[in-house]
Amino acid sequence: PRTIYLTRHGESLHNVDGRIGGDSELSEKGKEYSRQLSQYISSQNIPKLRVWTSWLKRTIQTAEGIEAPQERWKALNEIDAGLCEEMSYSEIKEKHPDDFAARDLNKFSFRYRRGESYEDLVARLEPVIMELERQGNVLLIAHQAVMRCLLAYFLDEPSDKLPYIEVPLHTVMKLTPAAYGCDVQYIPLKV
Ligand code: F6P
Repeated sequence: PRTIYLTRHGESLHNVDGRIGGDSELSEKGKEYSRQLSQYISSQNIPKLRVWTSWLKRTIQTAEGIEAPQERWKALNEIDAGLCEEMSYSEIKEKHPDDFAARDLNKFSFRYRRGESYEDLVARLEPVIMELERQGNVLLIAHQAVMRCLLAYFLDEPSDKLPYIEVPLHTVMKLTPAAYGCDVQYIPLKV
């Protein structure tokens, strides 16, 4: 039976500043996670492991030290927040109060102006999930909103709950096939 390992990238400079989106680099803590992750992965001796990342620097840097064939997927990029890219939530609330309120009312369907909704993201991820289902062992390194969509798919969570699924930083989520769907184990790494 194959295993899928899911993780967010290590802490980024935008995470430190509380800004969403963008393409920032890892913080020092994030780089430490990258090292811990490659140690953890090599300690697991996972046969024929493949590593998938997004096109964004923070996932590629997180994967840096891992010795396994790597693939980059644009479809794994974080949700596009359009006009709100690189803002903090308090800036969004101040500059786009109506959008901020609308998102709160229906987070799954709310589409950022010139950007995406969670619903759009689910559609964008469909080909990735199809391919993932045909693979053996994969470590997939992506982003908070993307992880929520993947976890909802594998753990069969309804779409109204999806945008609120907790996806902690610096934690590997290990998915193994179970009788119905998947079991998930959360493995926090010390950084
Ligand atoms: O803050 C990190 C981040 O990955 C942002 O890039 C993204 O917009 C956000 O999380 C998604 O979380 P939420 O949908 O709760 O705003």
